[in-house]
Amino acid sequence: MIEVKGFSFTYPTGSRPALSDVDFEVAPRELCAVVGGGGAGKSTLAGVVSGTVPHLTGGTARGTVRVNCRDLDDTPLSGLVGEVGLVMQNPFNQISGARFSVREEIAFGLENLGVPRDEMAARVDLVLDDLGLTGVRDRSPYELSGGQQQLLAIGSVLVMRPTVMVLDEPTSQLDAAGNALVFEALGTLKEQGVTVLLIEHRMERLAHAADRVLVLDRGAIVAKGTPGEVLADERLEEWGSHRCVTRWLLAAPPAGDSGRPGSRCR
Ligand SMILES: Nc1ncnc2c1ncn2[C@@H]1O[C@H](COP(=O)(O)OP(=O)(O)O)[C@@H](O)[C@H]1O
Ligand SMILES: [Mg+2]
Repeated sequence: MIEVKGFSFTYPTGSRPALSDVDFEVAPRELCAVVGGGGAGKSTLAGVVSGTVPHLTGGTARGTVRVNCRDLDDTPLSGLVGEVGLVMQNPFNQISGARFSVREEIAFGLENLGVPRDEMAARVDLVLDDLGLTGVRDRSPYELSGGQQQLLAIGSVLVMRPTVMVLDEPTSQLDAAGNALVFEALGTLKEQGVTVLLIEHRMERLAHAADRVLVLDRGAIVAKGTPGEVLADERLEEWGSHRCVTRWLLAAPPAGDSGRPGSRCR
């Protein structure tokens, strides 16, 4: 569960707010997509929900952010480990550098949580299989392709079984097969009750996965609703991001999969 209320944020070096008066909620089992052009504030929002902004960045924040009913203002980052998972925009930044193989890299977070060895091995093998990484499990993370590193970054977070998962443009380097794997993994997460905030610059393939869409433009939410509602909004042309939004929304959802009542990012 994510609740953001009246949240504004300016980086220490920023001349204007990166986020302005942002309000939304994402319920468990809901996948909320965030779209918008470059510099709209999407990665900043990912940082806010996963606790790194402003805890690690510094800067000026106003408003409240609650994750699973805990106010992030009073929650140290260590208190969110295993609860909120962030897949960063650049997967290379997510590699720990402390482990020599893909398998060890995925196990890294679980080691830190003190998960028993047998359970750890089983969870790692499951994630390797789900993401099609079993064939490269003994390779160095640095020897992987960009797409494989992206899957590894997602796997390192999935294995922790967070209740809230934030993914910042997780499919940017993936081919169709990689996209399908990520989409399947997100579907499974939702079924398991995970709250998902999915940031995408272009996400044609994942369009039908979203219950709600937020459109960010220059730090402000300029539209929110179902994919269909956002597309029908007459202001679509005004948004700097309208091209990517239109492309994203025009991707046809599978039959019978449009509009899911009872789930809203209000
Ligand atoms: N670490 C930072 N320090 C200062 N300004 C930043 C930092 N990161 C992002 N910004 C600024 O905040 C705004 C939003 O950036 P970002 O959240 O990365 O947007 P997006 O992910 O939508 O491209 C931009 O104006 C960007 O220049
Ligand atoms: Mg970004």
